Amino acid sequence: MGLPPPHLWHLMFSPYFVVMKLIFATNNQHKADEVNAVVGNSIHVITLKEAGLEIDIPEPYDTLKANASEKSRVIYQLTQANCFSEDTGLEVKALDGEPGVKSARYAGDDRSFDKNIDKLLQKLQEKPDKSARFRTVISLIIDGKETLFEGICEGSIIDEKRGVHGFGYDPVFIPNGSDRTFGEMTMAEKARFSHRKKAIEKLVAFLNTLESINKF
Ligand code: IMP
Repeated sequence: MGLPPPHLWHLMFSPYFVVMKLIFATNNQHKADEVNAVVGNSIHVITLKEAGLEIDIPEPYDTLKANASEKSRVIYQLTQANCFSEDTGLEVKALDGEPGVKSARYAGDDRSFDKNIDKLLQKLQEKPDKSARFRTVISLIIDGKETLFEGICEGSIIDEKRGVHGFGYDPVFIPNGSDRTFGEMTMAEKARFSHRKKAIEKLVAFLNTLESINKF
């Protein structure tokens, strides 16, 4: 693998160059914060904004895996840098897995968290089974080769919003083993249950098994 394009050379001369750098193909700062809390100092995660990439990569496919692969592939082609992306969906049993891959735009293209939750609660009103799960798929590209990881958090949906933390469906999702919504938890508390944390831990374990990686 050669050098990254010139507009990314500044990244090579940062004090973090000794640790592994990975571009995280996201514009969602909540996701970046959650990932950073898990990877610690061993990996320097760079968001699209931090990498100077102003891009909103479409998620046109009907599986989390295909969307995650598309996002990492686009970033790898642009930068030639090691990178990863993730796609997450809320899968509700009584709704045959909805909103699933459509979670971000469940109530329309404006991606409003509140409107998405309102639509979900309305659709679940008459359903006795409120069980649901978050599922995260990560696509990691190292030196051009893709590896996939999955993390799942089982739980249930409550019929009113509780809590102000997190994002998306957090205020209406209670993970199994808790009586509080993700919205009522700090980021560290959410991490004890989180789908994203489980997937990222697998990614970190995988990176630790690789003997030599191009650190950019
Ligand atoms: P994305 O397409 O992976 O960015 O996420 C799809 C949508 O799922 C987001 O817009 C959120 O509404 C929701 N989502 C993803 N991850 C979480 C989470 O950890 N908690 C709550 N909602 C989430």
